[in-house]
Amino acid sequence: MVTNEPTADDCPQTNEIPMLGLGTWKNTDPETCATSVEQALSMGYRHIDTAQAYNNEQAVGTGIARADLDREEVFVATKVWIDSLAYDDVLETTAQSLQRLGVERLDLLYVHWPARSYDPEATLAAFDELYEQGTIDHIGVSNFEPDQLRAAVEITEAPIVANQIECHPLLQQPDLREVAADLGVTLVAYSPLARGDVFEVPVLRDIAGEHGVSPAQVSLAWLRQRGLVAIPKATSRAHIADNWQSLSVTLSEDELDRIDALDEQRRLVDPAFGPWN
Ligand SMILES: NC(=O)c1ccc[n+]([C@@H]2O[C@H](COP(=O)([O-])OP(=O)(O)OC[C@H]3O[C@@H](n4cnc5c(N)ncnc54)[C@H](OP(=O)(O)O)[C@@H]3O)[C@@H](O)[C@H]2O)c1
Repeated sequence: MVTNEPTADDCPQTNEIPMLGLGTWKNTDPETCATSVEQALSMGYRHIDTAQAYNNEQAVGTGIARADLDREEVFVATKVWIDSLAYDDVLETTAQSLQRLGVERLDLLYVHWPARSYDPEATLAAFDELYEQGTIDHIGVSNFEPDQLRAAVEITEAPIVANQIECHPLLQQPDLREVAADLGVTLVAYSPLARGDVFEVPVLRDIAGEHGVSPAQVSLAWLRQRGLVAIPKATSRAHIADNWQSLSVTLSEDELDRIDALDEQRRLVDPAFGPWN
């Protein structure tokens, strides 16, 4: 049974990224979104994930402002949408993101998908420019396949610190994990609860029962212990707190191995423009 409440200091970092963050996709009601961000930050979360396409950057910014932390304490990540990946559009829409979020710089800016207006040379040159200006502290990509990641790392002057991809016990991404480790790129796991599917997996339920915790916590502990950052989305205080408690869960080698055996390549986020299609 977990008794201790993790604090911000209990959240490890990799490549300067706090390993547990709050996801905000579909958290679009402005008041609900701002409240969940504020609650997460007051609980100890220090990493908030949003995107231009989520239509909630302003509400996320309101939540950050209400939490009243020093700017350096919060790791703010957003993503440039696939219609805005031409050089000038990256610069222009990032300025708009900053304004909506109410911040002067971003900790991490991602290419959301290698799709539509993505042009490796031109898009990444704009990201390098933002890095040079000090507008962004880190460059990231998202939904990149191994070859695209290798190519992007070759192109940018600044390091690419993260590839944000779908990863959970039912989609374990062994190839991407190997390539990312080779390149020193951190994988940020999106849909780390398989959008709720982890709650139905008997092995995760059993391990959760043995620890007296939720299957969500087991899934998040597995990701952390395997070296991945996780950004579960939660809107209710109860879910936000449940996920935060995963920092107090340590799985045994045997439990980690049992979860490793659950991979069934179940991909849940699969738009037609996904590079694997
Ligand atoms: N880069 C990309 O292309 C991409 C794609 C997808 C997602 N993402 C990012 O990754 C984040 C997370 O992924 P996701 O939103 O797809 O799915 P997810 O985090 O796997 O699952 C979210 C769902 O689980 C519920 N939940 C959260 N914590 C729970 C708990 N402890 N117990 C029971 N239910 C719980 C949430 O409910 P409530 O909301 O009711 O709390 C919500 O319905 C997104 O929000 C977004 O920031 C990025």
